[in-house]
Amino acid sequence: MTTTATAAGGPGIDAPAAVAARLTDVTQHFGEASRPPVLEHIDLTVQPGEFVCLLGASGCGKSTLLSLVAGLDKPVSGQVDVPGGRPALMFQEPALYPWLSAGANVELALRLRGVPRKERKAEAQRLLSLVRLDGAAPKRVHELSGGMRQRVALARALAQEGDLLLMDEPFAALDAITRDVLHEELTRIWSETGRAVIFVTHNVREAVRLGQRVVLLSSRPGRVVREWRIDIPQPRRIEDADVSALSAEITEHLREEIARHGH
Ligand SMILES: Nc1ncnc2c1ncn2[C@@H]1O[C@H](COP(=O)(O)OP(=O)(O)O)[C@@H](O)[C@H]1O
Ligand SMILES: [Mg+2]
Repeated sequence: MTTTATAAGGPGIDAPAAVAARLTDVTQHFGEASRPPVLEHIDLTVQPGEFVCLLGASGCGKSTLLSLVAGLDKPVSGQVDVPGGRPALMFQEPALYPWLSAGANVELALRLRGVPRKERKAEAQRLLSLVRLDGAAPKRVHELSGGMRQRVALARALAQEGDLLLMDEPFAALDAITRDVLHEELTRIWSETGRAVIFVTHNVREAVRLGQRVVLLSSRPGRVVREWRIDIPQPRRIEDADVSALSAEITEHLREEIARHGH
């Protein structure tokens, strides 16, 4: 971890004014006004091409924050700017259409984006091959393993326009080995496509394995407690010594937050 803004590999301080996403003093509230807000005074800027992990205990407001960035909901106060248009979303459940093949699921996203019919098949093949599912296009969703379904969901997310990918605990339901492989794939695809990613997780090691920056949220009210810039070179492995050391440090802070709120 460094504290300098000029860390190698990071988006330099002289990066163009355009941002992938910016939240300015965002507060979100549900239900009675007497309860603390779910999110309070959140300021967060994600640079183009940056990989940011949002980390926090369950129920702290991570999905709420992501839905604001996705434009699915509006904050009670503050501002959310996503200049590059509607971001692509990926969840824990792949949410594929089960009656369509893997290829058709990706083609559907291309159709919604307005890609001409005759180009869709080849583009879907290209995206499936990017997630290493060459040859899987004709397969039905039920023929695919959980890991393969998440690969299709990733290909479908990449089929959407926009340079921002929002991922909400996308690998939480997978076994550890499959998750490891998908971490590798996601790191590779992120560096090949240059998209910005906001990746939500409650898993500290996963955040340190993937992110250029880890942003720790507190619970009720959800605030940005602290953030870490991570310049451990990619590809990292979850069991690397420096990944473990930084994870231990972040876990301490997360524990303090959880203890403070009695979860
Ligand atoms: N639409 C909603 N209406 C009322 N409460 C909500 C709504 N969405 C989320 N919440 C509450 O906001 C808190 C944060 O939820 P969420 O963002 O899903 O947390 P996380 O994703 O970090 O687990 C929870 O207490 C949840 O019950
Ligand atoms: Mg959530």
